[in-house]
Amino acid sequence: MSTQQQKPETQESPDDSEMNGTESPQQERLEKKERSMVDERSADESDLEGDTVHIKVFRYDPEVADKQEPRFDDFHVPFKKGMTVLDAVMYARDTYDSSLTFRHSCRQAVCGSDAFFVNGKQRLGCKTQISELQQPVRIEPLPHQEVVKDLVVDMDHFYDQMHAVEPYFKDEDTPDASDLEEQRQSRENREKVKMSTRCIWCASCMSSCNIAAGDNEYLGPAAINKAYRFAMDDREGDEIKEHRLRILEQEHGVWRCQTQFSCTEVCPKDIPLTEHIQELKREAVKKNLKFW
Ligand code: SF4
Ligand code: FES
Repeated sequence: MSTQQQKPETQESPDDSEMNGTESPQQERLEKKERSMVDERSADESDLEGDTVHIKVFRYDPEVADKQEPRFDDFHVPFKKGMTVLDAVMYARDTYDSSLTFRHSCRQAVCGSDAFFVNGKQRLGCKTQISELQQPVRIEPLPHQEVVKDLVVDMDHFYDQMHAVEPYFKDEDTPDASDLEEQRQSRENREKVKMSTRCIWCASCMSSCNIAAGDNEYLGPAAINKAYRFAMDDREGDEIKEHRLRILEQEHGVWRCQTQFSCTEVCPKDIPLTEHIQELKREAVKKNLKFW
């Protein structure tokens, strides 16, 4: 199915909005985002049939003498119904230049490996319809990340930040091996962390964030969202939650966020990142409140 027709998932169930007759701020943001991801002068798919699509792809290879100077290469790719940005660069690589380098794997917005900067926005190549974009379609590597080659960026720093928040479930008192049993989460608590579990580690949010661009030590929206997923999990207990909040309230943690919403706008999984960061700020304040 074309992603043009896909409705974004939201935190609220359809019944909630039907019942109260209002839109949540997140729903409003998602609708606005859906509109903004389609370029103003995009064409209908039927207009493009039998045509070619003009893509301009960033090229750079530090290991080849005449490719060390960054440049854009133009490719004209035959349009096919349902063609995505990833399809177009794959066609260009397979047909015109086998040295064109980029990451991809699942082709269904699950692995997070093909986040590019397309017409000035962070987008997943496999989730973005070419027909929604103004031509020539400009395809670049994610900004604020070191470029390894062509569209491939170095993800090491992003992964380091993700691991810094200890992104795994911890338990205060793990029972003996003989006593192990399933640790069930309540339906309500699962609902609370549901959106935060959807992260596919694509780094689009980090790349869009001005604060992360200026502060290399800032944990960044994806790592903070990952921390939210565990800090809000009731099963971990108060002590572990405190430990998680201590990591988050450090100098380069949640307080760096200036609520610009750029991460929320580009996240391909529609995670309400800014809201999660704000909620963790509130939790950190509550933890430090003392009553005499
Ligand atoms: S939070 Fe969203 S944008 Fe950021 S890495 Fe995860 S999926 Fe990608
Ligand atoms: S190829 Fe896996 S997310 Fe696009």
